[in-house]
Amino acid sequence: MRDQPAKQPLSAILLEWYDNNARRFPWRVPPGDRGAGKPPDPYAVWLSEVMLQQTTTAAVRDYFIRFTQRWPDIHALANAKDSDVMAAWAGLGYYARARNLLKCARMVSRELEGKFPDSHEALLRLPGVGPYTAAAIAAIAFDRKETVVDGNVERVMARLNDVTTPLPAAKPELKALAARLTPAKRPGDYAQAVMDLGATICTPKTPHCGVCPWRGACQARVKGKAADLPYRQAKTPKPRRRGLIYLARRKDGAWLLERRPDKGLLGGMLGWPGSAWGENPRPAPPCQAEWLPVPAEVRHTFTHFHLRLAVHVAEVDMGTMADCGFFLSGQDFRPGDLPTVMRKAHDIACSVLDVD
Ligand code: ADE
Repeated sequence: MRDQPAKQPLSAILLEWYDNNARRFPWRVPPGDRGAGKPPDPYAVWLSEVMLQQTTTAAVRDYFIRFTQRWPDIHALANAKDSDVMAAWAGLGYYARARNLLKCARMVSRELEGKFPDSHEALLRLPGVGPYTAAAIAAIAFDRKETVVDGNVERVMARLNDVTTPLPAAKPELKALAARLTPAKRPGDYAQAVMDLGATICTPKTPHCGVCPWRGACQARVKGKAADLPYRQAKTPKPRRRGLIYLARRKDGAWLLERRPDKGLLGGMLGWPGSAWGENPRPAPPCQAEWLPVPAEVRHTFTHFHLRLAVHVAEVDMGTMADCGFFLSGQDFRPGDLPTVMRKAHDIACSVLDVD
């Protein structure tokens, strides 16, 4: 394939590529349908963009399908029970998103007659909608000329323009470069096209420069350094925290669980009682029992730290009174409703207690 001089604007070249190569997602209106007057559903765009914050498309796909089957529109979601939504979100991480999702759904349903605002500025007033998500919704749902910059887009811009400033310092420069290229025509498709280019061609390790629609204009490619960009400032290692966690199973199969406070990590989610997490956690058994320390520990990494949890299990009598939490019957308890770190503890406890 010969390199072509970039006669058309880069945005037009990319849109043509997108028309033939757009990824298919359950939340996306393909470019052909959009052109034929099928506009995207702002509810689907908003829900997908909140789910996609810090999360891959592969992880989001099934959650998105389950959510939209169960809550097909903003009013259905607004009327959902908090605990059902938190359970449906379990495993997706960053649980503040689920709490804000509900707040936002209730605001749009009850105060805005179910209609999402169509401007960046107004979208920013919604709970859980920051500058990135507001730009993505305005562009994708309402075809507003907004520049949407995620990690994929940053990589594409760094290579296209040979930006050698390391991330994160390079962010404003990359955003300005992205803004300069954003077209007035089809900005929603364009936003998704740059993301797709970054995800499928301008990939982090071995970019497929030979088939890139922007190959004729890419400065890093000319210099043979596309795979090296963007540079990143060395990250400081994550601190380690420890904790103790207690899984009590009653003789009738009920488990002692607690709902975590709304504020803070895993806020609003179900979990096992335990100590605070830190360098030297103190024992904090939630009830009197013969606690058995389990050799296997839970290891889990959050955004800002690595966690190790020492798991304790006990089989407890029917009348057991706990200092916190509540017993949830075996019928009502679904391990899939737990956040991942808590589900890991449950898996360990079940292997020790020999329950399925
Ligand atoms: N990541 C964030 N938003 C996205 C979108 N709309 N399509 C694909 N990946 C995304």
